[in-house]
Formats: sequence, C-alpha cells, structure tokens
Amino acid sequence: MPTALVTGANRGLGLEFVRQLAALGWHVHACCRQPGVAADLQQVAAVSDGRVALHALDLGDLASIDRVAATVGGRPLDLLVNNAGVLGNPGTHFSERSRSMLQSVGRFDYDEWLEVLRINVIGTAKVSEAFVNHIAASERKCIVMVSSVMGSIGWNDRSRFPPGGGIHAYRSSKAALNMLARGLAADLHEKGIVVLTLNPGWVKTEMGGADGMFEAKDSVHRMLGLVIRSTPAHSGVFQSHDGTEIPW
Ligand SMILES: NC(=O)c1ccc[n+]([C@@H]2O[C@H](COP(=O)([O-])OP(=O)(O)OC[C@H]3O[C@@H](n4cnc5c(N)ncnc54)[C@H](OP(=O)(O)O)[C@@H]3O)[C@@H](O)[C@H]2O)c1
Repeated sequence: MPTALVTGANRGLGLEFVRQLAALGWHVHACCRQPGVAADLQQVAAVSDGRVALHALDLGDLASIDRVAATVGGRPLDLLVNNAGVLGNPGTHFSERSRSMLQSVGRFDYDEWLEVLRINVIGTAKVSEAFVNHIAASERKCIVMVSSVMGSIGWNDRSRFPPGGGIHAYRSSKAALNMLARGLAADLHEKGIVVLTLNPGWVKTEMGGADGMFEAKDSVHRMLGLVIRSTPAHSGVFQSHDGTEIPW
C-alpha cells in the first residue's frame, strides 16, 4: 500500500486527509505540532492497525522538519500533503463579520504578516525540500499544496465573493505559495514528480468557521479524487476541489 505524509494533521482538513487515506489502506505519517495532545488524531491512529504514525513537526522550526525526514529514513513517500497553514490574527476565520478586522489597510501588523509568510511559504518550502527524495523514490510521486483561491491574482477583484481586498497577509502568502508550487512543478518534472495546487473551497474548520460552504470530509474526498486521477498534465495547474481550473 502507498504511503503519505500530511502536515497539520491534528485538526481540520489535515485530520480528514489522514482519516480518509488510512481508510483507503494507506500508510500515513501524520505530522502536527503537538502529537501528545492531538486526541482526534490519536484516535484515528489507534484504529489504523499501525498504519498511521504520529510525528512532531512545526513549520516554524525547520530542524523539526529535518528530524521527521530522518525518522522516515529511506522509505519512499507516494504523496506529500502540504496542508498546514495559518490565516493570521486577529480573527480566526474568513467570514464577512471578521473580514474588516483582518489585515486591512490601516491595521497592518507587520510582525504577524512575516509570521504568516514564514509558516505558509518558508515552512512549506522546507517540507517540500526535505522530502523530495522520498517522493522521487516512490511509485506515485505526488506533492499537494493546499492553497486557496484567495491567493489567486487572476481571480481577485471586487466583484467576487469574498471580495478581492483585505486579509492581505494570508492572500499574499498563498500567492507566494502558488509561485512556489508552479516553480517546483517545473523543477521536479524531470524526476517525474507531479505538484498539484489545490483550493479546498470554503470549508467548515477552525480556519473556515461555521459559515463555510463545505464539510471537511467532502472537500478532502474531492481533493483525494483529484490526487488519484492526477497525471503529469495536472502538475503546475491551480485546481479547485471540484477539478475546475483557477487562474494563477
Ligand atoms: N478552511 C477553509 O475554508 C480553507 C480555504 C482555503 C484554504 N484552506 C487551507 O487549508 C489548509 C488547512 O486549513 P484548515 O481549514 O484545516 O485550518 P485549521 O483547522 O486552522 O488547521 C490548520 C492546521 O495547520 C496547523 N498549523 C498551524 N501552524 C502550524 C505550524 N507552525 N506548524 C505546523 N502546523 C501548523 C494547525 O496546527 P495547530 O493545531 O498546532 O495550530 C492545524 O493542524 C490551510 O493551508 C488553509 O490555508 C482552508
């Protein structure tokens, strides 16, 4: 059976990726900051017949990423799901109610902005680099970047929902992540690695809030369908959970 590694595996979309991959019989390296207190993830691992292994990985602590890579050792990884990410403070979700408070002009918090970039872009780049040889050695050779339509420059204008402005730290971090994904798709093409850039939709998680349009299980089910059906032609393409292409 294939093997995956998922970041941000303790809750939200990451936990759902682990749950569904394990149910499909995959082996999963489930990474989160504090596995010792990740009760839901521990429960998934407990019923996995040893197929789900927990690891401590913090995207803000690059050495922790190297430690997990060393633990995985020479074992191939068919799928890397770069899922972990932060929205930034203040506020914890995308809803219109909080939008005006979030990273808007006149209220920029530059330390916060740097932290969002550090986690969403630099941390994700480090994970991708640390595991690239594990991926290259596998059968399926797939990296998923969990991005957001909010990072699409082509999609963003005032007529959209949510409208193009606000939430600048998060948006710019996902735009940068998209560039990283597109660049990695080019760099890793010769190794046969497919880099998928996926928008999960507005999902009911801690980040998405209760107003989200989709349940995590449905969004992840659709994203895993895209992974399973992916071909090299999908590498370097920005896709929504339903398979529609999003402009960069
Ligand atoms: N929900 C949506 O509507 C939506 C829409 C578009 C894109 N996304 C993207 O989907 C991904 C998952 O989001 P979600 O909705 O599941 O959000 P979530 O419920 O807030 O989960 C975020 C995950 O990222 C982890 N994380 C945060 N900082 C980390 C760090 N420094 N190191 C390692 N892990 C860290 C969190 O772990 P802790 O518990 O330790 O904080 C948590 O597991 C994110 O990349 C997000 O941008 C979500």
